Amino acid sequence: MTASSPAPLTQDELKAQVGRAALAYVVEGEIVGVGTGSTVNKFIEALATMKDRIRGAVSSSVASTERLQALGIEVFDSNAVDELAVYIDGADEIDGHGFMIKGGGAALTREKIVAAQSRSFVCIADASKRVDVLGAFPLPVEVVPMAARRIMRQFERMGGIAQVREKEGLPLVTDNGQHIVDVSGLRIVDPLGFESEVNQWPGVVTVGVFAHQRATVCLLGTPDGVQTLR
Ligand code: 5RP
Repeated sequence: MTASSPAPLTQDELKAQVGRAALAYVVEGEIVGVGTGSTVNKFIEALATMKDRIRGAVSSSVASTERLQALGIEVFDSNAVDELAVYIDGADEIDGHGFMIKGGGAALTREKIVAAQSRSFVCIADASKRVDVLGAFPLPVEVVPMAARRIMRQFERMGGIAQVREKEGLPLVTDNGQHIVDVSGLRIVDPLGFESEVNQWPGVVTVGVFAHQRATVCLLGTPDGVQTLR
């Protein structure tokens, strides 16, 4: 009989692994900032196991709020809380400095708001999200609809290909009532400068580069276990 090696972990299992590992960063007795996405959904499931040891959460989307409340975790308005010890969220890409692309789930504006009110940002991601240079993942940008066309042209002048994200044949409408432009073909070598520049274009609500609100810690799910990158 030959010993067979265990089946490699699926992407879903890697997400569950980092979701559980993030519990170590939750401060007991406090309110935790909670992001959005399939990896965060694993974290929310894990968080429910210690719900009696936290005060509750500030959430970055309607979807996460519904999940948290369904599991009996109280959700606070971000304006009701001065500062959070920790914000836990996923990413579409993360580089070696903790700079990220986020917004694949269209929740980038509220994610950036909750990240900004948190002392630390713990990014949870499977290893496929780790990149050297940001930009292979189409960059999400939340825009005021009347500015979408002009913003798309500005990205095209930078060499990007921009399109309005759709859902069921219509422009997707975010939790904030705005649209998302996704820009592919960019190579973002200066995330801090890029974020600052795009932020000041009229009609841009939020650009999905998280450089000013970068991750303090990244828990990366790999076949060999959770790697902690600082
Ligand atoms: C949502 C996000 C998510 O964190 C990002 O898209 C990663 O999602 P997932 O964990 O499903 O891969 O930014 O706006």
